[in-house]
Formats: sequence, C-alpha cells, structure tokens
Amino acid sequence: MKRVGFLTSGGDCQALNAAMRGVVKTLWFTLGGDNVEIYGFFNGYKGLIYSDFRQLTYSDFSGILTRGGTILGSSRTPFKTIREPDENGLDKVKAMKQNYYKLNLDCLVILGGNGTHKTANLLREEGLNIITLPKTIDNDLWGTDMTFGFQSAVDIATNAIDCIHTTASSHRRVFIVEVMGHRVGWLTLNAGMAGGADIILIPEIPYDIDKIIDAINLRTKRGASFTILAVAEGAISKERSKMGKKELKESLARSKAKYPSVSYEIAAEIEERTGQEIRVTVPGHTQRGGSPCPYDRVFASRLGTKAAQLIMDDEYGYMVGIVNREITKIPLEDVAGKLKYMEPDATIIQEARMLGISFGD
Ligand code: F6P
Repeated sequence: MKRVGFLTSGGDCQALNAAMRGVVKTLWFTLGGDNVEIYGFFNGYKGLIYSDFRQLTYSDFSGILTRGGTILGSSRTPFKTIREPDENGLDKVKAMKQNYYKLNLDCLVILGGNGTHKTANLLREEGLNIITLPKTIDNDLWGTDMTFGFQSAVDIATNAIDCIHTTASSHRRVFIVEVMGHRVGWLTLNAGMAGGADIILIPEIPYDIDKIIDAINLRTKRGASFTILAVAEGAISKERSKMGKKELKESLARSKAKYPSVSYEIAAEIEERTGQEIRVTVPGHTQRGGSPCPYDRVFASRLGTKAAQLIMDDEYGYMVGIVNREITKIPLEDVAGKLKYMEPDATIIQEARMLGISFGD
C-alpha cells in the first residue's frame, strides 16, 4: 500500500493537473487501485498546515489532462515566515508534520516553483518523504532544463505579439508587449524571438534607453513602419542595475507611483524623446491560464511517471526534472533557493543578436 499526498503551491500554471494525473495513473496502473491511496491538500501549503484535504478517487483524475489551473487550488505561503507562528500561535511546520504523520503518508508530492521548493526542502530536512515537480511559466527553477507551464506560456505570449504585429503595421506605431518574469527572461526571450520582436528587454541584460531609441530610429531609417518591443516585467535600466538595495527600492517606488509597470515607464521615455506614438499591451495572467499546450501535456505526464517510479522505489528527497533531454531526479537540497538565470552571453542570445534583435544594451 502506498499513501501519497499532493499539493500545488505558488502561482499556478498550465499542466499542473496533467502532472498529478501522470503520477496517480502510473501508481494505479502499476500497483493496482486497491494498493494506492491518494490525498489532496487544498490551496497549497495551507491545506497541509490547516488539515484541509480529502481523499481523491480515480474519477478526480479523469478528464484533467487538458484542464488548466489546479484541481487542488493554490496559494503563496512565503518561506521567510514559515517558521513564524500564525496569528493564532500555530507552529506551521509542526502542524504540517503532524498532518502528514496522521494520514500515515509514504510521501508528499509537491508541485511548485522557487519559493515552494524552499519549503519542500525544509520539510525534507524535517524528515518527511518529499518528491517535487517543477512548475512555473518562468522556467527559472535551478536543476532542470525546463519547467512545465513554460511552453504553454510561450505560446500565449507569442500569440499576443503576433496579434500586435498586424495592428502595429496598420498604424505605424511602436508597441510594447510586457511579458511575465520579474527576475528572469526565459519567457520574454522565447516569445520575443518567436513573435519576431525587434527589441527584447530581459532582467539579465540591463537596458539603456538611448540604445532602445537608437534601435527604433535605425528601423525607421531602414523603412520599417513599426517596431515591437517584448519587455519582461522585471526589465531593469543600466542606471538602476548599479544602484544599491535602498536606492533601487526608492527609485522603483517613485516609478510605481507614476506608472503601472516598467513598460509604461519605458513607453513614456520613448514617447517624450522621439515623438513616436507608443502603445503598451500586458497579457498578464492570461500567460498562466487556459489549457496546457501538447508539449506540456506530454512533458508533465512524463515527469509524473518518473515521480511515481521514485515513490514505488522508496526514493525520496528529489525534484523530477529534465536534463539534456532525459527525465531525471535532482536532489532537493541542490535545487532549493537557487534561481536559473539566463546567461547574458548564452548562445541563443548571441543568435538573437545575429538576427538583428536589440537587447537595448
Ligand atoms: O511565478 C510565476 C509568475 O506568473 C511570474 O511570472 C509573475 O511575475 C508572478 O508569478 C505573478 O504573481 P501573482 O500571480 O502573485 O500576481
């Protein structure tokens, strides 16, 4: 008998359901339905802390391969306060352990991104059997070449840029499409390249507004009637990238008081200096929504199968990821607390530059 708990934590993404279905189907088909009990904790770690769960049956996992979101619900439970008691004095870590042991679980499968992995590793250190699956549209989890949700988000952000392309060419305007990603540029770079953006701004390559204007002017001089910028939420100017923590915080607060996001600030600067008409489009959370793309359905299912194999072999304390096209296990302690940034001189960035894409640097 295997008793397995599940929770999905942090910002959602596509293929969370596909991944859980992959684990459960593999366990059920390999061990037989009578030898597996599945428990779902609702709304992330909160469900584990406050004992909000229910036993799941085969029908819970039927028809969910293509369904976006998560059947368990999700929430953010900040790692930095996980050791602090809640407003009623409850020790959250102790509560999570108690609920795990009360159900006599063999393992807890946790689906999440960076913050989620820190808490997952803490629970491993506390003695729980943990397996994690890497979800996030940001693709910024250390230790895996790819996270599920990423490809689906690339499709959506690319579609947004494609749509902007047609209207931009009709109106001879400069357009900014703001893509999700506060700290890393994987999504912006890939959607930007796929959508034929002329300028791509990512957090890993601080921009210089003069260089952006030069790139727009160059396109105009060459006869282009429009320019499209794909800008990551976390794009940062060279000036700000050199600031200390306090000065940066103040500068960003001033900007936030005036503009809804960095794209609007960049748009205002370009407009003021070039007189060009600029429009900003923010696809926002649509990038995390809807049905997973076929790649993510297959990828998440494969990760799920591997996770089930680890559970059946009693191998715990791993994230299941993909490295050099192989689905593999990566020790949780190696993953927790590390971000996978884009290297500014990565081959794909060099190739983008060869295609004439400006990074505003
Ligand atoms: O981590 C995934 C992500 O979608 C980021 O790309 C984005 O910056 C953030 O979550 C948005 O968070 P929230 O859903 O809390 O607004």
